[in-house]
Amino acid sequence: MDVFCLSLGKAQAIGAFFLVSLNLASLLFAQEVHSSPTAMPARRSYHNEEELLARMTLEEKVGQLVQVSGVPENVELGETVPLKEEYKPLIRAGRIGSILNLTGAENTNAIQRIAVEESRLGIPILFGLDVIHGYRTIFPIPLALAASWDPGLVEQVAAFSAEEARAHGIRWTFAPMVDVTHDPRWGRIAEGPGEDPFLASAMARAWVRGFQGESFRSPGRLAACPKHFVAYGAVEGGRDYNTVSVSLPALWELYLPPFEEAIAAGAPSVMAAFVSVNGRPMASNSWLLRHVLRQELGFRGVVLSDWKAVGELITHGIASNSRDAARQALLAGVDVDMESGVYAANLAELVREGVVSEGLLDEAVRRVLRLKFEVGLFDNPYTIVPRSNGEGEHSNALPREGRELARLAAQRSVVLLKNDNNLLPLSKDLHSVAVIGPLAADQENLLGPWHACGHPSDVVTVLEGIRAKLSSKTKLLYAKGCDINGESTSGFAEALRAAKEAEVAIVVVGEASWMSGEAGSRASLGLPGKQEELVRLLYEAGCRLVVIVLSGRPLAIPWIADHVPALFQAWFPGIEGGNAIADLLFGDAIPSGKLPVTVPRSTGQIPIYYNHENTGRPPGSGPFSSVYIDIPTTPLFPFGYGLSYTRFVYRDLQVERSSIPVGGTVRLSAWVQNVGQRTGEEVVQLYLRDMVSSLTRPVRELKGFRRVRLAPGQSARVEFTLGPKELGFHLEDGRFVVEPGKYQVWIGGSSEGGASGFFEVSAS
Ligand code: NOJ
Repeated sequence: MDVFCLSLGKAQAIGAFFLVSLNLASLLFAQEVHSSPTAMPARRSYHNEEELLARMTLEEKVGQLVQVSGVPENVELGETVPLKEEYKPLIRAGRIGSILNLTGAENTNAIQRIAVEESRLGIPILFGLDVIHGYRTIFPIPLALAASWDPGLVEQVAAFSAEEARAHGIRWTFAPMVDVTHDPRWGRIAEGPGEDPFLASAMARAWVRGFQGESFRSPGRLAACPKHFVAYGAVEGGRDYNTVSVSLPALWELYLPPFEEAIAAGAPSVMAAFVSVNGRPMASNSWLLRHVLRQELGFRGVVLSDWKAVGELITHGIASNSRDAARQALLAGVDVDMESGVYAANLAELVREGVVSEGLLDEAVRRVLRLKFEVGLFDNPYTIVPRSNGEGEHSNALPREGRELARLAAQRSVVLLKNDNNLLPLSKDLHSVAVIGPLAADQENLLGPWHACGHPSDVVTVLEGIRAKLSSKTKLLYAKGCDINGESTSGFAEALRAAKEAEVAIVVVGEASWMSGEAGSRASLGLPGKQEELVRLLYEAGCRLVVIVLSGRPLAIPWIADHVPALFQAWFPGIEGGNAIADLLFGDAIPSGKLPVTVPRSTGQIPIYYNHENTGRPPGSGPFSSVYIDIPTTPLFPFGYGLSYTRFVYRDLQVERSSIPVGGTVRLSAWVQNVGQRTGEEVVQLYLRDMVSSLTRPVRELKGFRRVRLAPGQSARVEFTLGPKELGFHLEDGRFVVEPGKYQVWIGGSSEGGASGFFEVSAS
């Protein structure tokens, strides 16, 4: 069966669009295909990359650095498409090393057979895919999972996704996306861990461990590829692909730590970002790729370009032509050229002419071959095709464990922002409930912007989730009200009628999934279309409102936050989103998500983030201080914030020792008590401030967190340890220092408030 399922996200569709302008297969064919000198037996075995390297022709070496997409142009979401024929002879000639976007055990096996049995050296193909938050079972988007502050849960999600993807022929995921950002206009915030390097590092570690397990060679595991190295989250104006200017302290302190963590967790590859950083596009940035990544961070694995980024060196105005682009990228340390065809067209000639040394080419090839050995491709290049159960390889029945995990993940990642007078949880015996809004009965958008082979039909809508909770006595009314992005208000009257008839109106509003993710930047972060007008209409009519926001980023919705009594930020929650939201609405689950990003009041406040520096004139320091004259400087909701159906209080922060030497550790603890009526989970957070230092340091930095479950009235003493890793910081040149002086700490439930104390680090 030479077909495969591929649900294309927007990014792949963007890539497919660019294929029209540059036909990669014809580019690859532009070179003479050197056919095999002698026929070789099928399935050869090699001991290691050196043995193989010694036998390879120049063209075969270059072939290992060439990655192509298996997707033809114009593929629609969820379409089943035949394999691209034009790549088969190239695979046979050893001119392609890895393929992305091709899925399905039978489908990848068919291609693998050509590589292994029909090519001269039989080097297997490595199949990669963006398994970002699920393969077929789609979990909440990564930003939502970061809101769970639950690395153990993320690890389980990654492990489950790896197993699903691996069963469909995938060995390598282009994930996790670990780009910290301060700019929610940037649509790719949805794919990442949010604004904080400490939380991002914890997430990075969890994703890598989950994908890879003890060894990514083991069955059911994938090799990870943290991306996009580096500082992609700093694109100017939040506009995707835009220029990045980043200070050295920000590079070391903000953008590099999650990569460091992912590498320490064993990630064998890294994807270089599209963007130009301080004047050098990443595909030609040897300082960042060779010096910082390899020497400073000790990375030994494969560096992969982003989609066509090597070819885009020409558009950046850095390379004069494709030959020049190939030369610069290889010199800079890009091992694999994803989809631009520039390596395929030029590298062999550049080596023959002595412009690029064969030794340099060999280094890159060696790394790719090593990865193939490590992944276990030489021992086991094929994927076991499941015995037909009558439904085929792409059965619609998703495993129950996956659905349960997706439901738990969605429950934990939803953030309760407001709950005046304990309106929530709702009773299941209400006389009438109205469910209103353009996202209430929506399936497709709940999958989020990057959902691999996920199907909209797998999604439980919010309306379905609520319906399943209510007793037969409750009247359930539904009205869409308006479109997500339209101008029409023709549905308002029906929505108003429904809301007025009901005891409570649950209004599900937000973004369409295409409004975030790659190329999904927005300049204004309010609710699109007429949605806020709809909420205002219902509010002004006196309806009791619970608003649920589904989006790929935090939205600036001050009017809603000020007026409606109950508000959830539910992100794009995945296939079990509807059930999870209903669990939370009706008290079958207790909210425990905390914001992984600051929620702005207005787009004009961006960048707004909790771990900013103090400035010489902080807000409140006098008439000439660092404030806006037209809006407050404070956020709508701070980083780390999130309510529960119970309440937690913090007291009695204790510092084990008031003074520690440089290089020493200190233990801190505080009591947290559940003073409400229900059992709940709280994410206890530890923040630090270095009071006087040689570089200006943040007013607060997250340095620890822990989830605790407490029954009503129960208390726990939560303890953290701070050592040099948490107390130090990088100077401009990358040197890591712990400086003597005074430090303040807080233990609390968000980046504001908490129980506080001090200690000293002494020079002697
Ligand atoms: C472009 C995106 O930037 C990257 O994240 C992704 O892995 C590749 N396309 C492949 O789909």
